[in-house]
Amino acid sequence: MAIQEETSPEDAHSVWPKYGLRESPFTTGPTTLLSSLPIGKVFSGRTEETTKLLRIICSSNNTRTFISGNFGVGKTTFSNYIRWKLCIERQSKAHHVTTSTEIKAQSAWGSKEFLLATLSAVYTSSLIFRWDQHGLKLPALARIGDYVAIGTQKAVQGSIAGTGVGVSSTKSVPGAISPEIYEELLRALSQELLAQGKQLILPYDNLENIDSMHLADFFRMIRDYLQIEGIHFIFMGPPSCLGALETYPQAHSTFSQPIVLGPLNSYHVLEILKKRCNSLTIPEGTYLSPYEETTVTWLYETLNNIRFAFKVLEDTMLSTEQQAPCKITMHEIKAVQEKEKQAIFSTLTQHETKIITILLDVTGKITMTDLAQRTGILPTNLRHPIKDLLDKGLITITTSDKDRRKKYVRISDNTYLRLFYSTSK
Ligand SMILES: Nc1ncnc2c1ncn2[C@@H]1O[C@H](COP(=O)(O)OP(=O)(O)OP(=O)(O)O)[C@@H](O)[C@H]1O
Ligand SMILES: [Mg+2]
Repeated sequence: MAIQEETSPEDAHSVWPKYGLRESPFTTGPTTLLSSLPIGKVFSGRTEETTKLLRIICSSNNTRTFISGNFGVGKTTFSNYIRWKLCIERQSKAHHVTTSTEIKAQSAWGSKEFLLATLSAVYTSSLIFRWDQHGLKLPALARIGDYVAIGTQKAVQGSIAGTGVGVSSTKSVPGAISPEIYEELLRALSQELLAQGKQLILPYDNLENIDSMHLADFFRMIRDYLQIEGIHFIFMGPPSCLGALETYPQAHSTFSQPIVLGPLNSYHVLEILKKRCNSLTIPEGTYLSPYEETTVTWLYETLNNIRFAFKVLEDTMLSTEQQAPCKITMHEIKAVQEKEKQAIFSTLTQHETKIITILLDVTGKITMTDLAQRTGILPTNLRHPIKDLLDKGLITITTSDKDRRKKYVRISDNTYLRLFYSTSK
């Protein structure tokens, strides 16, 4: 099959019916409790981890768990699956309720912001999942609704005032709301839930948003809330966040053993795609598989990252849509990658090209000093191209745990360049 030169965005939407599918099976976002792909039907693998986390949550009415794993390994989807199993699958027989979406950690979170984000997510979810129609009588929710409205309004005003526009508070908005008030609301809600046989599961995602230097402080700030009866806290983030939590033993010791997610095996990745296609098949029809299984296996084993593998499949699909329905093979993937590589390199300056070429040639990360030596670029002249490459998302910089002044640089996980690197090795 030939690679198409130009693709128009409108056509991208029309390709899937040619395969008998409603939409793309290669979507890379997490599968959520509300997404069009039903999580109960498309989730695969992780049997041991599922048993472990279900056991942790069901063993007590107040738990804390950290789900750790590299970029795109499936942390959010895994926690969503657990929440689906405990809160949605058993419908009214469930002993747990949860939020409709994950609560995303923010860099500037203090205890007040953490509580406000939590109460806001709980309040919205109570409306989306219609807790009242499921017989839950929760007077605290009405108060939470009021405080969330005020808190959010104040936060917006704060940010506008911060820009110098200077909006003053209206009379209906009281002065600063203390974290104690939010805490009391959360405690009241969990008590009301417990009285009706329900416990709350709260998922906090993307802990990497909080600077690793401040993560231990963050856990110190929220440690009292983590003890509230009737609430299960799930935190998600890369392994570096787990390291930061370990530096604060008082919080760390109250957490259960972390759930560490490694990459799925290729059998499960194929199963996910098959399940997705089955769920997306146009009613009363059959679907034509848009991929070759051997190609997907090769791609996944090369990249070892499910998100990135799906992204490459999706991008290849868009470039071959004029030939649809057809199967993606390695030939198309390589052709699309080559085009992509040229596009990336055409935007790089001479110094940037030198840096990327060196980084593609080393395994893993190297120090800045090493990079300067290998490229022959003076350390002071590295600053500018490094910043540009960071902005383009092509490289990632990490700091040594032992010596904060020591910086390491490597090709980012989520860039096409990783694929060229892996395939050329
Ligand atoms: N066990 C699984 N079953 C079905 N789909 C999965 C599974 N694990 C991951 N996926 C799919 O892989 C992709 C990446 O998963 P997800 O977004 O959950 O990863 P993540 O670790 O949370 O990523 P990030 O580090 O960016 O937060 C998503 O499209 C998701 O649907
Ligand atoms: Mg995630």
